Amino acid sequence: MPQRATIIAPSILSADFAKLGEEGEAVQAAGADWLHVDVMDGHFVPNITIGPEVVKAIKPHVTIPVDVHLMISPVDPYLEAFRDAGADHLLIHPEAGPHLNRSLRHIRKLGAKAGVVFNPSTDPSVIRWMMDDVDQVLVMSINPGFGGQTFMPSQLAKISALRAMIDETGRDIPLEVDGGVTPETAKLCVEAGATALVAGTAVFRGGPMAYAANIAALRGA
Ligand code: DX5
Ligand code: ZN
Repeated sequence: MPQRATIIAPSILSADFAKLGEEGEAVQAAGADWLHVDVMDGHFVPNITIGPEVVKAIKPHVTIPVDVHLMISPVDPYLEAFRDAGADHLLIHPEAGPHLNRSLRHIRKLGAKAGVVFNPSTDPSVIRWMMDDVDQVLVMSINPGFGGQTFMPSQLAKISALRAMIDETGRDIPLEVDGGVTPETAKLCVEAGATALVAGTAVFRGGPMAYAANIAALRGA
């Protein structure tokens, strides 16, 4: 596999929600490559976070891609609103709609990158016959819903399996990992083939003065 710099995507779920714009600016200045935004509906996952209006408010504060992780069901009726709000990547769970392929094509038609997210129990084979329609892949290394959970080593084999599936396409599809990513677990993810790391707790701990060192520690892994 060609060696490339790992993409670091801080999750604003661990930021200070009273100043999300400033927090986005701070992690960007500290070296973040993407800004990961966790959207939860209290139905698909047992937590409620933010909607398109909040993405719209954050967007002008950053120039890095806004990586929107949709943990909502049904997801289809909201794709356009999140795209209009400024999402550059729209990541959806196969369980969040009846036709994954139709949803991915819709995302591309809206002009965003179309990503698929795998819960710990979801098998990567759901995208095997539609790799041409996938721009990005995200492996959850926790059950979605909350930050600060412990990394599940069982997902490392899935990262490797998806690495092989992506390599077969010959396309440079980012392989992202989300949940419990620390400098220690980041190393395992990158060794398994991950090229992008989402981290909430590990980036935002210690406050703005610590962001650059926190991001560098993850990238160094
Ligand atoms: C959880 C979210 C994650 C979360 C990660 O459902 O998808 O992005 O913010 O948080 P940490 O890095 O603290 O595990
Ligand atoms: Zn996420």
